[in-house]
Amino acid sequence: MSRKMFALVSMLTIIAMILGACQRAPAEDKLEIFSWWTTGGEAAGLNAMYEIYKKDHANTEIVNATVAGGAGSNAQAVLASRMQGGDPPDSFQVHMGHELIDTWVVADKMENLDDLYQSEGWVNLFPKGVLDIVSFEGHYYSVPANIHRANVMWYNTATFQQLGIAAAPKTFDEWFAMAETCKAAGLPALALGDSGPWTSVHLFETVLIGTLGAEGYKGLWTGATAWSDPMVTTALETMDRMLDYVNSDHAALSWDQANQLVIDGKACTTIMGDWVDADNLAKKFAASGWAPAPGNEGIYDALSDSFGLPKGAKHSDQAKDWLRLVGSKAGQEAFNPVKGSICARTDCDPNLFGPYLQSAMEDWKTDTVVPSLAHGAAAKSGWVQTITDAINRFVTERDVASTQSGLATACVDAGVCK
Ligand code: GAL
Repeated sequence: MSRKMFALVSMLTIIAMILGACQRAPAEDKLEIFSWWTTGGEAAGLNAMYEIYKKDHANTEIVNATVAGGAGSNAQAVLASRMQGGDPPDSFQVHMGHELIDTWVVADKMENLDDLYQSEGWVNLFPKGVLDIVSFEGHYYSVPANIHRANVMWYNTATFQQLGIAAAPKTFDEWFAMAETCKAAGLPALALGDSGPWTSVHLFETVLIGTLGAEGYKGLWTGATAWSDPMVTTALETMDRMLDYVNSDHAALSWDQANQLVIDGKACTTIMGDWVDADNLAKKFAASGWAPAPGNEGIYDALSDSFGLPKGAKHSDQAKDWLRLVGSKAGQEAFNPVKGSICARTDCDPNLFGPYLQSAMEDWKTDTVVPSLAHGAAAKSGWVQTITDAINRFVTERDVASTQSGLATACVDAGVCK
């Protein structure tokens, strides 16, 4: 080959390579989704939605921005600093209710989603109670992916059988009787993993509900029930007694590690939200038993994970398609059976769900619904934070009187109590 010919061929080869590379160039389109879903069941749920999104958006690269830590205990601080710094993700996980409205909507950080609600027909597909808490002054601000139940007691049926515990305890008295049986066998009755400070608040809210009942508990968030009420004293005393039966390494464990103690037969129960069902599924643990937390029968302590569109999102078209998917039947039917939650929509097929979730669907229809404290539904974030600090101090110091007076002051500081 002549020199000239060689140069020409080389040039053509380089051009062909450049053209090929251009065709294969990574897609410009991106979608950044921010959440704290990193444990097995949580990630499985998120991935189920990503898979559907990818099928319909082959050219969009999904950036899975997660910050580990249950209940968003770490993620929320990272999100706040990104939002303040003008670097919002395209869409982020946010609890429906106070967390969405008081933290983001009132601060004018979220886009109004009324158009999507109209075009997707969601105004007729989500229950009225749900529509009410994703809206503010008549406009919609986030799309609920699910409904979770917080007040569930989980146990290992094989452990109960070995210890001769015939039925799941329903009342606190029955729970303490069960706890003594476990103690006699050398097992903690209650697996707690409060390395994330929210889990002891989670436990406390179920004890409050079990002691005050639905109306009394709801009144704590409106000022109708006084935090100085003797029933709150009883709730703190009951929680104090329960803490006598927890695993000694609780401060070093996360919620899912606490659940692992139950799975391994090393603890009798754990009181946690129904993301435990997803954890059990991901860990292929089939011998799980469940019941409402003591005294919580007939009450659904609810929360919902939703996604919104922050103002200034860099890929808002992609984010709107994501939100369409989150609210769709296909999205909710793929996500919820593996996430341990039920659909926020009313038209999902129950046959796609396992036995726990089928029972939750039935309870959701008939139970009295109350808002979760630890998961953004009952109170605004600043108030939740003060309660979290007080309850974590309580877990170490076990001082009922000073905790109760701290809780009463927190309600006044939140502007709800006089
Ligand atoms: C909740 C959230 C659930 C689950 C749980 C544990 O706040 O709503 O989806 O992820 O935290 O991380």
